[in-house]
Amino acid sequence: MSRTTRTREDREDMRGLGANERAILERIPWAPGRRLAASIVRLKMRLQFTGWLQYLIPVPVVVVLSLFGGIAHLLGVTWLAMALLATSALLFLVVVFDIVTVKWKIRSPEARPSRYDHLDVFDLFRARRSCRSYQTRSLSVDDRAELLASVRTQLDIPTIGSAPLRLEYIAASLTVWPTVNASEFLVAIVPKAYDRTAIIDVGRTLQRVVMDATRMGLGTCWIGPGADHASVIEHLGDRFDPASDQIVCVCAVGYRSRYIPLFIRVFNQRMNHRHALDELFFSDFDLENPIDPSAPPFSRFGRTFEACEWAPSSYNGQTTRAVVATDRDGAVSAVHFLATTTSRYYAPVAVGIWCANWELGCETLRIDGAFVLAPPDSAGEQLPRHDVTWLPTGGAANG
Ligand SMILES: Cc1cc2nc3c(=O)[nH]c(=O)nc-3n(C[C@H](O)[C@H](O)[C@H](O)COP(=O)(O)O)c2cc1C
Repeated sequence: MSRTTRTREDREDMRGLGANERAILERIPWAPGRRLAASIVRLKMRLQFTGWLQYLIPVPVVVVLSLFGGIAHLLGVTWLAMALLATSALLFLVVVFDIVTVKWKIRSPEARPSRYDHLDVFDLFRARRSCRSYQTRSLSVDDRAELLASVRTQLDIPTIGSAPLRLEYIAASLTVWPTVNASEFLVAIVPKAYDRTAIIDVGRTLQRVVMDATRMGLGTCWIGPGADHASVIEHLGDRFDPASDQIVCVCAVGYRSRYIPLFIRVFNQRMNHRHALDELFFSDFDLENPIDPSAPPFSRFGRTFEACEWAPSSYNGQTTRAVVATDRDGAVSAVHFLATTTSRYYAPVAVGIWCANWELGCETLRIDGAFVLAPPDSAGEQLPRHDVTWLPTGGAANG
């Protein structure tokens, strides 16, 4: 095959694929293999954006189990054939059940989940988990009013930076992945010109709304890479100006459903791991010497460390760390928040989310403090990148 023909065919194969997918596929040296992989990726994308992929992911497993079951039967290993075929049949039934109850929404009505008014803020941090399957009912008038009041309240709190930030409410079935049946969203919008502090402010402000929503008993799910911006912009209408605005992420809000597709159950389970506190909080900027949060002077902050540990982050990347500084008297004099990856969006959002959880913990413990931006010279490309510092106000925080 000539070089020109190969290039033209390759271009055809890669049509409609993103830059990342193209870069990965171009590494496959064998043209038919590359073509097959491109078709599979394209099919995956189509299923993903028509909302079928969540349900169909177990199907290849069903096929493989049936195939091995058939081979075991032919070889006369009856017990193995029965076990494989029974597992395959069971999995198939689960897929059908998920499609009927979640995709087609044929199911009994569900009760409104209880509020968490009785929980203290630290138990509330642990109660928050990303919700990726929602009930079919919309928020009640009262709940929507309470949510939007929280948005207004949190937007009124002075931000760390100076860029204006908006949280727009949309009631529509946006194209998101892998969340299912979400029909209400908050969209975080900042000015189009890139400003890292504005992205940190999105994390901080939206997380404060997320915690209010969690107290109301609502399910929430931050959605960054899984949101189709074209569908978000279409539903924002004249509330979005492509010349001056950019979307940072969206957050689904609604009533958590008991009906959760198998793939999403597994996904949720896999996102449940967290780094230990001694992998997150340090006394030095090289992140080599962990602090002991249970010993003075740090113990004064109680479960605030845990609040940051359980913060949400894109694909559970857990990219934020903190350096807790002490002064000559041994009191906490500053907490520096750092990003450990070069991500321009989701790492600063994660820093902002830590800031929100840190200050909400401190507010509960009545420890006053304020955020300041890291000095400009520390904002180079070097990692870890120091973004924000929390300073105790009214004196250092003694243990
Ligand atoms: C900025 C940001 C973007 C996220 N994007 C997505 C997403 O696109 N799809 C999704 O299902 N979850 C998304 N999440 C949720 C994370 O996957 C989740 O927070 C993480 O796995 C930890 O799980 P938890 O929230 O249940 O504690 C995002 C979270 C953050 C903070």
